[in-house]
Amino acid sequence: MSDDTFWYKGITFPRAYYSPGILRKVQEEFVLKDEDVVTVTYPKSGINWLIEIVCLIHSKGDTKWVQSVPIWERSSRVETVPGFASANKKEGPHLLTSHLPIHLFPKSFFSSKVKVIYVMRNPKDVIVSSYFFWNSINGVKKSKSVEQRLEWFLEGKVPYGSWFDHVRGWVSMRERGNFLLLSYEELKRDTKRTVEKICQFLGKKVEPEELSLILKNSSFEVMKENKICDYSMLGDVCSVDKNPLMRKGITGDWKNHFTVAQAEAFDKLFQEKMADLPRELFPWE
Ligand code: A3P
Repeated sequence: MSDDTFWYKGITFPRAYYSPGILRKVQEEFVLKDEDVVTVTYPKSGINWLIEIVCLIHSKGDTKWVQSVPIWERSSRVETVPGFASANKKEGPHLLTSHLPIHLFPKSFFSSKVKVIYVMRNPKDVIVSSYFFWNSINGVKKSKSVEQRLEWFLEGKVPYGSWFDHVRGWVSMRERGNFLLLSYEELKRDTKRTVEKICQFLGKKVEPEELSLILKNSSFEVMKENKICDYSMLGDVCSVDKNPLMRKGITGDWKNHFTVAQAEAFDKLFQEKMADLPRELFPWE
């Protein structure tokens, strides 16, 4: 599989999984309905964890669905070629997933009550997670080191473009009633409270014992054992045997990969680029 890419409205996409025609259709024609739920993140920010939680909320903690249907079928990634086909095949209401920046997201979002949950993550951890993940996926450009991945990330020459633009675009939706802004860090720090927040946003009432099952079955340990969340079962996508999605599942792993100088330069850039946004929006060091 080649690592060919193309540019679409300022963003680079690997040709193996995306096409300009589908990206245009998703934005211009795909109709999001009021009863749909869309989980959105910049890549490597915890989307699979979020999907698992939302699916388990729907099943009230029961694992039949999450252990029999692959995660990418339960919640189609609408902008990919296979995800678009599967989203159009299914009857609604839809549980959908996207990594699109807001300027490429379906326009129907702005005139519907579809519920969107956006999770952001410390960008330094995103870089480390991306380095390991993309290097195990076929059809995408591999980086030689975390340092090279960091350079590409800062230039925005990575799938889905600049993290700063992505987060800035989505964070601007935070006052909308049909939008929930979360972070990987708060999910890690207080999973129970954050899952309760998601239930409330989705209008789902769960009993305490159902909540316990949701928490247990969406834990890193249980998800790591769930083969149905494992990209390595897609032989043509993944070039490693072990599940590349479930690597460490911690906050602050960047400390094991960034030099002090890299971290300081990154933080300085972060402050410059995000200076106009309240710092408390970003709950990481
Ligand atoms: P690491 O590579 O840092 O371990 P995405 O799902 O958006 O591709 O993000 C993948 C990251 O989310 C990985 O981070 C993965 O370990 C982490 N993750 C997935 N499921 C998780 C869970 N249940 N709890 C904590 N982290 C999880």
